[in-house]
Amino acid sequence: MAWIKVADVAEIGVGEMKRVELPYDDVAIYHAEDGFYATSDVCTHAAQSLTEGRLEGHIVHCPRHGGKFDIRTGEPKSLPCVIPLQTYPVEVRGGEVWIDDEG
Ligand code: FES
Repeated sequence: MAWIKVADVAEIGVGEMKRVELPYDDVAIYHAEDGFYATSDVCTHAAQSLTEGRLEGHIVHCPRHGGKFDIRTGEPKSLPCVIPLQTYPVEVRGGEVWIDDEG
């Protein structure tokens, strides 16, 4: 396990996203109504940054071809996406958001 701080809670409002570039993956941090989630930021269809799309509830919409993923599980929810996103465990520690970057 390798936990790293990726954001301050205050910098990502509810319904917003933040892209964090790590050496081996770009990670999307999502602030949903019920807390924070993290997945790869890279759409599994054609490598589009998902944080350039939009978040509705627990569904992130890819801006390039309209694919969707559930941010809780990484599961694809509409074509053309068929490969799940990598997900990362998230913890809120005080006013900070941390992820386990080993997934
Ligand atoms: S790149 Fe995301 S749906 Fe095509």
